[in-house]
Amino acid sequence: MTSIKDSVALVTGGQRGLGKAFVDELLAAGAAKVYATARRPVGSDDPRVVPVALDVADAASVAALAEQVGDVTLVINNAGTTVRTSLLDATLDELNEVFATNVYGVVAVTQAVAPILARNGGGALVNIASVLSWLAGSSVYGASKAALWSVSNSLRLELAAQGTQVVGVHLGYTDTDMTRALDVPKNDPRQVARDTLRAVERGETEVLADEVSRVVKAALSGPVENLALGS
Ligand SMILES: NC(=O)c1ccc[n+]([C@@H]2O[C@H](COP(=O)([O-])OP(=O)(O)OC[C@H]3O[C@@H](n4cnc5c(N)ncnc54)[C@H](OP(=O)(O)O)[C@@H]3O)[C@@H](O)[C@H]2O)c1
Repeated sequence: MTSIKDSVALVTGGQRGLGKAFVDELLAAGAAKVYATARRPVGSDDPRVVPVALDVADAASVAALAEQVGDVTLVINNAGTTVRTSLLDATLDELNEVFATNVYGVVAVTQAVAPILARNGGGALVNIASVLSWLAGSSVYGASKAALWSVSNSLRLELAAQGTQVVGVHLGYTDTDMTRALDVPKNDPRQVARDTLRAVERGETEVLADEVSRVVKAALSGPVENLALGS
C-alpha cells in the first residue's frame, strides 16, 4: 500500500493526455513532487512538477532518467502509442515502434526504477494497459497491450520480493489526443486517474476503469469469438 500524500511520483508521458490527468490528480491528492516526462518537455508553473526528458524507446534516455529520480516512490508507466495499420498490413517498423514504446519501454523504465523503489521502501508501479489487452480488433496496438498485461502480471511476482505493489490499469476510450479523431463516447481521464490512485492506496492490483473494461474482463472465460470489438 502506498500513500499518495507526500509521495514522489513519476509519470511517463505526463505532460498531456491521461498522463497529465495523473499529474493533476497526484498533486490534488497531496503528492510532494511529480516528475512529468515528455520527449520534448516544457516547464511547469507548479514548483512540485519537475519536467524530465524521456523517450522510453531509447536506452540512453531511460538510463538518464534513473539518474534524475532517486527519490521516487510511485511510478506510472503511462506513455503509449498506436498505429492504425492492421496486423496483415503492418510493417516491421510499425510493429517495432508500438512494441518499443508500449511493452519494451515499460520493461526498460521498470528495470531502471526498480532499485530506486526498493531503496525507498518498495512503493508502487502502475502500468496503463487497455480494455484492448483482451478485446480483438485493434491489431498491433491490442497485441502490445495484451503483452503489457502479461508483463504487469510477471512484474508483480518479480517485484513482490522488494515490496513493490504492481497495478495494471484497463480502460476503454478516454478523452485524449489518441482518440481525438474518434466520434465515440469517452471516459474522463481525470476520473481514470482518481480511481487508479485510490486503488494504489488500497493496495489493489488491478483497475477496471469503466463499464466496458469490467464487462470484457468478465467475459474472458467465455468463447474467444465474443472478445471482439463490436461483438
Ligand atoms: N485514450 C484512450 O482511449 C486510451 C484507452 C486505453 C489506454 N490508453 C493508454 O493510456 C496511455 C496514455 O494515452 P493517451 O490517451 O494519453 O495518449 P496520447 O494523448 O496519444 O499521449 C501519449 C503519451 O505517451 C507519450 N509517449 C508516446 N511515445 C513515447 C515514447 N516513445 N517515449 C516517451 N513518451 C511517449 C507522449 O509523450 P510526448 O508528449 O513526448 O509525445 C504522451 O504523453 C497510453 O498507454 C495509452 O495506450 C489510452
